[in-house]
Amino acid sequence: MQLPFSTLSWQGELPGALRLLDQTLLPAQEVYIDLVRLDDVVDAIQRLAVRGAPAIGCSAAYGLVVGVQDLVDDSTAAVRARLGTVAPALIAARPTAVNLEWAVRRVLARLDALPADASGRLLVETALAEARAIEAEDVEQCLAMGRHGAGLLPREGARLLTHCNAGALATAGIGTALAPMYTAHDQGVPLMVYADETRPLLQGARITSWELTRAGIPVTLITDGMSASVIGSGRVDAIFVGSDRVARNGDVCNKIGTYAVALAARAHGIPFYVVAPLSTFDPESRTGADIPIEERDPDEVRAGALGAVAPSGVAVYNPAFDVTPAELVTALVTERGVLERPNLERVEGLLREGGRI
Ligand code: MRU
Repeated sequence: MQLPFSTLSWQGELPGALRLLDQTLLPAQEVYIDLVRLDDVVDAIQRLAVRGAPAIGCSAAYGLVVGVQDLVDDSTAAVRARLGTVAPALIAARPTAVNLEWAVRRVLARLDALPADASGRLLVETALAEARAIEAEDVEQCLAMGRHGAGLLPREGARLLTHCNAGALATAGIGTALAPMYTAHDQGVPLMVYADETRPLLQGARITSWELTRAGIPVTLITDGMSASVIGSGRVDAIFVGSDRVARNGDVCNKIGTYAVALAARAHGIPFYVVAPLSTFDPESRTGADIPIEERDPDEVRAGALGAVAPSGVAVYNPAFDVTPAELVTALVTERGVLERPNLERVEGLLREGGRI
C-alpha cells in the first residue's frame, strides 16, 4: 500500500539531512523538518517529533551519520573519536524503546568490522549504508508482520482496539500493530478500529485516528477510561498493540495504559496480540522488571491541548510506559510469524532462530 506521508527519510547523499514529519504538530499541520545537527536529532527524539520504537531506531541510525558527516574528509581516528560522543548522546535520548540502542550498536558494529586503515570517508559512507539497510529492513518487517497478523483476523471482518500509535508513523513502513489492519483492509476484509486516545500526549487521538482515517479504515476514538467498558460490552473482537521492548520471558512494555487494556481483554476473553519486530526484543531484559521506564515532564499531565487541566503545582507521576505480563499476551506477532502464549522458552527459541542470541 502507498502511504500519503513519509515518517522519516534521508535526504541527499553526503552531506545530507534526516527528514522527519514533525508528529508534535499532527493532526493540525503536516510539517517536515530537515535535521543536520546531532542536537536537533536528539531533541526531535526527546520531544516526540519522531516516536514509536522502530522509527526512533531508524532515526538514531541516521542520527549517527548526522553527527559525523562533517568529518567525511577527515581521518578515521577523528570519525571514531566523534562517534564516542555521538553514540551515547543518541542512546540516552530516550530509555525505554530498545530499538534505539539496538540500531546505534548495529551501525557501530558494522564500522568496527571495517579494516583499521579504512578512511574517514569510508566510515561515514558505511554508517549511511547501514542506516539505510535498517530502514529498508524495517519496511520489509512491517509488511511481514502485516501478513502474519492479518491471518489472525476472520475474513468476514473484525472490530479491533488499539492503544497509542504503532502505525506507519511509528516505523519506516506500514507499522506494527496497525500493519495487520492495513493488510487486511487491502485484502478487502471489513474492519473498524477503536483507538484509545492515549493520555497524556494523545498519540491515539492525534496520530492513530489521523493515519487510519487517511487510509480509509473506519476508526472510532474513545478516551482511555472507556476501553474496559467498550471491551466488556462485546464491541471488540481482538486487540492489537505494539511494543517498545519485549523481555526474554515475553513480558511486553508498551505505552502507559496498555496493561489495563490487557487486563480487560483477559477478563472478557478477548485475544490480546502484541506486534513487534525482533529488533524490539531485548535479550538483556530477563523480565519486564528489568526494563527502564521513561518518566516524562509532569507538565505533560498538568496541561493538555486546551491549556491547564490541573492546578499548576499538583504532584504528578508520569511514567510513559507500562509492562504487561507475558501471561496476558495471547500471541506475539513478529516478522517471523505468530508466537502463541509467549514464555521464556518460546521467546528464547524465537531469538535463537532470529540470530538475536
Ligand atoms: O512515547 P511513544 O509515542 O514513542 O510510544 C510509542 C509506543 O508506545 C508504541 O506503541 C511502540 O513504540 C510501538 S511502535 C511500533
